[in-house]
Amino acid sequence: MANLISPLRMSRPGMGILTLAAVLGISIFTAPMAAAQGLRPIRVATQVNKPAAAPAKAPVPAAPSVAPADAGKKIFRQCAACHSVVAGQHLIGPSLHGVFTRKAGSAPNFKYSTAMKKSAIVWNEAAFLDYIADPRKKVPGTTMAFVGIRKPEDRATLYAYLKSATK
Ligand code: HEC
Repeated sequence: MANLISPLRMSRPGMGILTLAAVLGISIFTAPMAAAQGLRPIRVATQVNKPAAAPAKAPVPAAPSVAPADAGKKIFRQCAACHSVVAGQHLIGPSLHGVFTRKAGSAPNFKYSTAMKKSAIVWNEAAFLDYIADPRKKVPGTTMAFVGIRKPEDRATLYAYLKSATK
């Protein structure tokens, strides 16, 4: 029995949990014969695993316990492929250093779209939160290929992070 299980546990890390659940399931149902029937433990594992699926989502409500700066930095990963917060460091998008209070499309040495330059936006909290929800709706014709951040709380967390990180 142990020999049957341990290769599974080694080959796929996810299986470890299932296997453990299967072992627990088997001992709960006290059906030792089940272990001998190849597929049976997996079926048991699925049943045992289902109630566990809800607690597995727990990290979402638990999120506020993460320091806001870390949470914001994590959300910024969606931007980091295109944006740096280092002054003058343009990637696909302009450096966001000093972005708050500057006029949209005004970082030196970055080639903005006409749409961004003509948007008449000045980046403050309200303008940023509005833009980042749906960039292409706020600035039609922008070359920023990003769908936006759907959750208002994520936008606020990102703003809180950027406000200090871009200083
Ligand atoms: C695929 C690359 C890409 C991603 C991902 C991206 N951006 Fe951009 N971003 C750009 C480009 C390109 C521009 C310039 C757009 C233009 O000129 O129309 C831009 C412009 C901006 C501007 C205006 C800057 C200025 O100087 O006026 C802000 C603010 C901004 N992005 C924030 C973000 C944030 C925050 C994220 C992540 C949630 C993000 N972007 C994700 C490419 C990207």
